[in-house]
Amino acid sequence: MLLVALDKLKDGVVLGEDVRDNNGRLLLTKGQPIDLNQIRLLKIWGVPEVKIQGQDQDIVTESGDKDEDDRLKVERTVQTIFQHIDTAHPAISPIYSAAIEYRLQKGLFIDFGPRLPLPENFKLDLYNGMKTQIQFSEVQLPESPEIISEFNRIIEDPLSSANDIAAVVSRSPSLAALLLKIANSAAYGYPSKIDTLSRAVTLLGTREVGVLAMVISSVQFFGDIPQNLIDLASFLRHSISCGLLSRILGAQANLPHTERLFLAGLLHDIGRLVWYRYFPEQAKLVLNMAKNTGLSVYEIEKECMGISHTQIAGHLLNKWRFPDTLVNGIIHHHRPMRSPEPVEPSIVHVADIAVNALGLGHSGGHIIPHFDPRGWHQLGIAPGALKTAIDQTVQQVDIMTDLFTGI
Ligand SMILES: [Fe+2]
Ligand SMILES: [Fe+2]
Repeated sequence: MLLVALDKLKDGVVLGEDVRDNNGRLLLTKGQPIDLNQIRLLKIWGVPEVKIQGQDQDIVTESGDKDEDDRLKVERTVQTIFQHIDTAHPAISPIYSAAIEYRLQKGLFIDFGPRLPLPENFKLDLYNGMKTQIQFSEVQLPESPEIISEFNRIIEDPLSSANDIAAVVSRSPSLAALLLKIANSAAYGYPSKIDTLSRAVTLLGTREVGVLAMVISSVQFFGDIPQNLIDLASFLRHSISCGLLSRILGAQANLPHTERLFLAGLLHDIGRLVWYRYFPEQAKLVLNMAKNTGLSVYEIEKECMGISHTQIAGHLLNKWRFPDTLVNGIIHHHRPMRSPEPVEPSIVHVADIAVNALGLGHSGGHIIPHFDPRGWHQLGIAPGALKTAIDQTVQQVDIMTDLFTGI
């Protein structure tokens, strides 16, 4: 009998011993010849080597080519991150295929590595530390930056004009430059160049530009998160991708407020930024816990902190007096059917799952969070159209991320 690494196995060799996975589940039985497809599956299941019959070195081969190794790593990555999701669902199946395709093209596989040790009583520590602070001292949440309050005042006032918004925007050159770049981007599709703020406000709408400015100012506000917790560039890419895909799905579903969907997607995980910034120790433990358990970060937040990033976002955005219609898409993006108006949260829900699957950045964890098929059915979008929307997002994301970088 010979113990052979999977990379060295030849097609048709006969197993000398049963093969089981880490949990003792029987995968293949002794005495059975195995083919290349089964060898590939064993790799996906994390089996490093098998015992085969005979002693002849000829039954093994040289290691496979690099392309095949990359495909296996990507397949294992996607299988792992989808471990809590029904991948046969008509909406998930095209997302799964797109994830394999995109990650293979970009070499985006994840080595989930060894599990990290957790401190004793960590659950209790987190629960006491986090829940108490969020519940009883909301004052610890940041005050609304002055510029956000000003935009808010303008969009709430029915008598305000494009000039009012332009006047506030122009006080922040970086915000003004970014607004113009966004208005001129392919995503908005205006045929002629928009070269002044007032024209941008006229075309996009006073309220729309006001909310866009509020959202950008929020992103700027959280721009100094410790990099050892989260890669902010990756967070931004996740947010922008979710915004772009939400807008495209909104158009496919014939919704009137696709711009609002872009902004809801852009801000959907802002609650995470609050806890990265104000509760970094707890956040670190939650991320480690997710890594150890294979659960999504969202599940761990609820379990261990007693409050999720969507609830934190609710506290923050209400305090900052963001429009309710925008907040709805953000705070219900993991449980869209809990919203009295579930369509927009359902769009962000599906978009978030898709961009997580493709690895278009991330906001903390890699495991795909809970998918609610009822949310998908709210949309009336054909699964084939979902693939098209994902392709369009991939085409736009680099351009849009470049615009936001450095704000
Ligand atoms: Fe989220
Ligand atoms: Fe997300």
